[in-house]
Amino acid sequence: MIKAVIFDLDGVIVSTDEFHYLGWQRLADEEGIYFNRKINERLRGVSRLESLEIILEKTDKNYGQEEKKALADRKNGYYRELLNTLSPADILPGALELVNGLKNAGIKVAIGSSSRNTPFILEKTGLAATFDAVSDGNQIKRSKPDPEVFLLAAAKMHIPPAQCLVVEDADAGVEAAINAGMKCLAVGSAYLHPGAHMRANSLIEISVADIFSF
Ligand code: BG6
Ligand code: MG
Repeated sequence: MIKAVIFDLDGVIVSTDEFHYLGWQRLADEEGIYFNRKINERLRGVSRLESLEIILEKTDKNYGQEEKKALADRKNGYYRELLNTLSPADILPGALELVNGLKNAGIKVAIGSSSRNTPFILEKTGLAATFDAVSDGNQIKRSKPDPEVFLLAAAKMHIPPAQCLVVEDADAGVEAAINAGMKCLAVGSAYLHPGAHMRANSLIEISVADIFSF
């Protein structure tokens, strides 16, 4: 029986996954590094610095630690410019309806995101007070596929991992959920992940009854 649902943020609750892509594409273009949407898929759920390492696989240039930090900061600046335009209109179709439906049914809801921009995004979209717990990139040492971010969310809600369901759009996030001993609903880009327990193209397709069916 599911007692809590932990939602990934970027690409599940808010359409910020596109802004991440645009920020990295701008940085890669400026640095003359080949980058495209296919490579971008590997960055879903992965921390900022680990994302940069994936982008740097396409260059022979050796960047030092300070230079890497500067590149990651630059991308975050471009990303934050885009985040400034965020509003409740950027909440993905079906997300708020599902979150509110679960709350009304007595199910706890949390955010489990690798992003250090989570508090800012929740504020801009009017969701800062919506969730029972927020676990994000500012509070963890290891990002997805490590289960840390989801285990922290479960602990904050006092719900055992086995009674938690994760909603994810990243392959790394589906793996993190499995590693945490949780059930996983894969949406969007993670749709084809074989480890998912349920899948949907969009949260519009998912009802509270579907969650109770686990
Ligand atoms: C995840 C995104 O939610 O957050 C990743 O899916 C991103 O693409 C990661 O790299 C870290 O985000 P931020 O906002 O801390 O740079
Ligand atoms: Mg995501």
